[in-house]
Amino acid sequence: MSRPLKIAPSILASNFAKLGQEVADVTEAGADWIHLDVMDGHFVPNISFGPAVIKSLRPHTQAVFDCHLMIAPADPYLEAFADAGCDIITVHAEAGPHLHRSLQTIRALGKKAGVSLNPATPLSHIEHVLDDLDLILIMSVNPGFGGQKFIPAMVEKIAKTNLMIANRPIDLEVDGGITPETAPLVTAAGANALVAGSAIFKGDGVDDYRKTVDTLKKAAEDGRA
Ligand code: DX5
Ligand code: ZN
Repeated sequence: MSRPLKIAPSILASNFAKLGQEVADVTEAGADWIHLDVMDGHFVPNISFGPAVIKSLRPHTQAVFDCHLMIAPADPYLEAFADAGCDIITVHAEAGPHLHRSLQTIRALGKKAGVSLNPATPLSHIEHVLDDLDLILIMSVNPGFGGQKFIPAMVEKIAKTNLMIANRPIDLEVDGGITPETAPLVTAAGANALVAGSAIFKGDGVDDYRKTVDTLKKAAEDGRA
């Protein structure tokens, strides 16, 4: 089964002084999803933004809001992120002891439920919650910062995840170090949603972003061919 390709620019690498414009520009440039990296300075060693910022961005694009929660605990905040306009809400498998409950809570809020795995976390962690999932996010760097180098061992993990998903309606997303060089490796392994921060937000404005989004799309399609 071939799931549609989705390019998800991470605004973590954008200009925070004009976030609304950045979101509008990257949407016009061809982004499918807007990837929102939420960091708490506790689960990961960095702090980014929360639901109030996301809510303020919602009117600036029609694109899907793909929210990646790098926070622990996540459960007390799920409703706030749903209310802020997130369409997909992804929690980390390592962020709490009750993953199944978190996923059910997200779906009960009417949103798509995702789970993310750090590079060292085995796939067995999620094999019993596949029916409760709409998206699996494989981290190809250690979460917390943009601009890190892709971890090559994640290609095999993506391929195994793809086999595990089989023909279930679950998106397979990869996050960290995605460039025109690494994109075809992960799509060849079965990923269909690609997060990219620094590779897309180099340059400034719609014309620059269109070039980087197009280059990434083409590289990703080459891997799928
Ligand atoms: C890392 C974040 C990523 C990051 C990707 O914690 O989840 O989304 O912004 O950035 P690049 O594409 O620069 O590796
Ligand atoms: Zn992310």
